[in-house]
Amino acid sequence: MKTGIDQISFYTSQYFLDLKTLAAARGVEPDKFYVGIGQEKMGIPPPDEDVVTMAASAAFPLKEQGAFEGVEALLFATESGIDQSKAAGMFVHGLLGLPERCRVVELKQACYSATAALRMAMGLVAMKPKSKVLVIASDVARYALGSPGESTQGCGAAAFTVSADPRLLAIDPEAGFYADDVMDFWRPNYLSEALVDGKYSTLVYIKALLESWKQYAAESGRSLNDFSRFCYHIPFTRMAEKAHQKLAKGTSDEELKKVIGESLLYSRSAGNCYSASLYIGLASLLDNAAEDLGGKRIGLYSYGSGCVGEFFSGVVQPGYRDALFAGQHRALLAGRAELTFQQYEDIYNYGLPTDGGDHTFAQYRTGPFRFAGIQGHKRIYGSR
Ligand code: HMG
Repeated sequence: MKTGIDQISFYTSQYFLDLKTLAAARGVEPDKFYVGIGQEKMGIPPPDEDVVTMAASAAFPLKEQGAFEGVEALLFATESGIDQSKAAGMFVHGLLGLPERCRVVELKQACYSATAALRMAMGLVAMKPKSKVLVIASDVARYALGSPGESTQGCGAAAFTVSADPRLLAIDPEAGFYADDVMDFWRPNYLSEALVDGKYSTLVYIKALLESWKQYAAESGRSLNDFSRFCYHIPFTRMAEKAHQKLAKGTSDEELKKVIGESLLYSRSAGNCYSASLYIGLASLLDNAAEDLGGKRIGLYSYGSGCVGEFFSGVVQPGYRDALFAGQHRALLAGRAELTFQQYEDIYNYGLPTDGGDHTFAQYRTGPFRFAGIQGHKRIYGSR
């Protein structure tokens, strides 16, 4: 039985900061960001948008198409948790009107957790092939103002259903995975922005890739030539390019563009979406590949700092284009509003009230759902 991703939809904030604006404010060459980092824009969530609203907005198109029929679990991957106890997925369960007979849980291992969720979802579906699992990865990437990580911020969510006989991607059983207890990137509970040993993190990302690939190749007997395309975890697009250059030594610029270029298009404008990044890359590839990828195998590399890496693969299913949300994704990215530098800093510095009183937030542009306020330490969500 084939198991894998049946449909995938993504969402990012309706606001972005152009990295040329950031470059001017920080006194650096715009090409450091546009070329050196490979990023043009970063998604910035307004005060009434968070991981819950982005997650629900990402999954909403799936609901509209009736994709929740048979869903028995919602696995919510994030490292931007909003509560130490209640899973962010519980709020999403309410907003989307998911059935009472639904397991809901939140998973964390930096950017890797959505891949852990995918694996768990496949296990559940294998035990009960008529059921489905909804996986949502949603994150806000936030670093200190003026720090080297600042240009690699972003936000977004990817929602996908995992089922038997999937319409998009049948996941292969083989995988290579690697864990090592390192401090390359972390966020203590008392901080709202991540700490990172930036250069070191890029080295660990590559080491985990090479170790995972070695295992995958040994287990599957496949070589790089067996793949039509590759999708990488995308903290910034240049990182994915460098990773592929390490894996496929001596690859030409033309070949590099062919095998990963389409997967990088959305991330170049949304920025790092942590746990969602790899899956936004997958949506970008499937939506934008000019060639029909039906029947072709693609390689995927998931990386979460701290760290866990996994290389796995899947076969794109014939007719997959009929199950995409390409038009919606392009319209979302094209319709966003640009922030001035002052607006960006004001939003960055907006602190959520912690006094337990009643607070209503100003209404910004969001998707179908918004974070309306806080009452008695309870987050209040609603429709826009
Ligand atoms: P930096 O030190 O400011 O940048 O931070 P740099 O000086 O190394 O410059 C970057 C590149 O731009 C260099 O190219 C420069 O040469 C080039 P490279 O040598 O790397 O090929 N450059 C220019 N190019 C063209 N025109 C110019 C120009 N000027 C310079 N004028 C760093 C870079 C990545 C360290 C920083 O952005 C950072 O700390 N980012 C956050 C950490 C990160 O994203 N790490 C990635 C791996 S870890 C990961 O992926 C996990 C993560 O997603 C979290 C999770 O798992 O939850 C982060």
